[in-house]
Amino acid sequence: MGVIWAVGFCFLLVGGGVEVEASHDESLPREQPYRTAYHFQPPNNWMNGITAHPFLGPMFYKGVYHLFYQYNPYAAVWGNISWAHSISYDLVDWIHLEPAINPSEPFDINGCWSGSTTFLHGGNPAILYTGADLKYRQFQNLVVPKNVSDPLLKEWVKSPLNPLLTPIDGIDPNNFRDPTTAWRGPDEVWRVIIGSMINGQGMALLYRSKDFVRWTRSKNPLHSSTKTGMWECPDFYPVSINSKNGVDSSARRKFTKHVLKASFNSSDHYILGDYTPKRDRYLVDTDFMDNGLDLRYDYGKFYASKTFYDGAKKRRILWGWVTESDSESDDIRKGWSGLQAIPRSIQLSSTGRQLVLWPIEELEKLRTQHVSFNDKELKGGSVFEVSGISAAQADVEVSFDLPNLDEAESIDPNSVDPQQLCSQKEASVRSTLGPFAGYESNSFYRSSLREGLDKTTYGAFVYLDHRDDKISLRSLIDHSIIESFGGDGRACITARVYPKVANDREAHLYMFNNGTRSVRISSLNAWSMKRAQIYSLRRRRKSPITYK
Ligand SMILES: *[C@@H]1O[C@H](CO)[C@@H](O)[C@H](O)[C@H]1NC(C)=O
Ligand SMILES: *[C@@H]1O[C@H](CO)[C@@H](O)[C@H](O)[C@H]1NC(C)=O
Ligand SMILES: *[C@@H]1O[C@H](CO)[C@@H](O)[C@H](O)[C@H]1NC(C)=O
Ligand SMILES: *[C@@H]1O[C@H](CO)[C@@H](O)[C@H](O)[C@H]1NC(C)=O
Repeated sequence: MGVIWAVGFCFLLVGGGVEVEASHDESLPREQPYRTAYHFQPPNNWMNGITAHPFLGPMFYKGVYHLFYQYNPYAAVWGNISWAHSISYDLVDWIHLEPAINPSEPFDINGCWSGSTTFLHGGNPAILYTGADLKYRQFQNLVVPKNVSDPLLKEWVKSPLNPLLTPIDGIDPNNFRDPTTAWRGPDEVWRVIIGSMINGQGMALLYRSKDFVRWTRSKNPLHSSTKTGMWECPDFYPVSINSKNGVDSSARRKFTKHVLKASFNSSDHYILGDYTPKRDRYLVDTDFMDNGLDLRYDYGKFYASKTFYDGAKKRRILWGWVTESDSESDDIRKGWSGLQAIPRSIQLSSTGRQLVLWPIEELEKLRTQHVSFNDKELKGGSVFEVSGISAAQADVEVSFDLPNLDEAESIDPNSVDPQQLCSQKEASVRSTLGPFAGYESNSFYRSSLREGLDKTTYGAFVYLDHRDDKISLRSLIDHSIIESFGGDGRACITARVYPKVANDREAHLYMFNNGTRSVRISSLNAWSMKRAQIYSLRRRRKSPITYK
């Protein structure tokens, strides 16, 4: 694996040998070195964006989490999109159920695309989703559970009034999708936003309804931005200013900021602002892509994410979709494409200027063999192996003493693109340490990687405070994915890696310092991770595509 700090730190996962075995069988090829062990993946085939919501109302089994996601039941490529459905009691172990919504009507025959769940009066859930017709024109539709007494909510029925929202009055029919969870104002009126682009400008169209069925478009969008294109999967929710707890979308609380997230240009960007339901005014602190300040959930591979409020644990949780970096023919051979990042809890940082993201605490139940040490100096140019754990399935937390910040050269974040900075190879750039530390992943696998992969190098700034005397990095490694959380979750980078070997015995974890100055590791804790338990109650489908 490869995560490097601007001071020159890196983990590296190396090995050599096994390739994916080809199979003509309908089931997955037996040799699956890149399949993850504790991330959420469908049993096979294509997945993309998430449409998640837990059902915690008293009418349902308490604590059952439901996950809906975009899924092709027939192949490992995009197409025939339906809403697959899985359930969990802890967001770690999962049971796959039959898909909840399938294309069937003229307004969704080309796919049941992204949408969101909302709890209506009395706690019954309802889903708004985007359907695509034969010309890929987009409509918003409603489905409700067939039997609200069924705790697994296995069956869903489409409203006879569908489609509820159609692309009229200047809306581009091909850019009208992904309704959010709706929220209710003090006037008891529901609001929902939908991603769109009008005259080349990305925006969140706002609709209002008293009964969740008849919707009226607001004259003004909730927000729009000239520096962006089409907004996919918008999300809009409150975060608490003075508490670590999450806040429900319809809650009326004084001390909150509102987050607006939009997916564009392959990343999930967000802004912070103040929202007043009265005229649905959203006053932003900074706008998308303003002054070089580009806030993102993750600076690596992470897209079409969604949050939900988990009432049982009073927290807000983020799901994000992570694509493959290999080719479509690799995906067809593997029999699958796409997975979910580990769910992350979301809070406003203590400065109030950004969000902090952290893997849900439930994940820690998978930790097993543990190694740790404190206070180790790593000289410039040195390397050592962290042994005693399984490097292919690991959770690694390391914290570094920060050298004297006054001696460091400072970087102006408005004039430097961290991704570009991290792509440069010169040691002079590498040893730069500003009031910001950058980190980099992926490029250091190259020697041990297969050819023909997307090898983008990612970078991000971690904003440090003068009080900070340490900087931390946590990395979740799971065969072909590495999720890294820098500065206690202030900057995250997710990367896909396909080392030639990613099995337990042959993978190794190294730490090395490629800089010239020595660096002190104040502490390191690393664990092997157990496999999550994932079962399927789905019927086997005859696939129209055979794997070659
Ligand atoms: C969609 O499903 C049909 C069968 O219903 C199949 O013929 C077609 O190949 C599928 N397309 C994709 C991209 O999976
Ligand atoms: C609804 O679900 C409940 C609980 O599973 C079940 O007892 C009941 O028979 C179901 N009702 C119908 C009409 O299927
Ligand atoms: C999209 O992202 C790439 C890579 O980060 C960047 O170079 C490009 O300027 C971005 N485009 C827009 C329109 O923001
Ligand atoms: C950093 O050091 C490691 C171990 O010595 C080496 O394998 C790697 O290639 C170096 N990376 C760079 C960018 O110099």
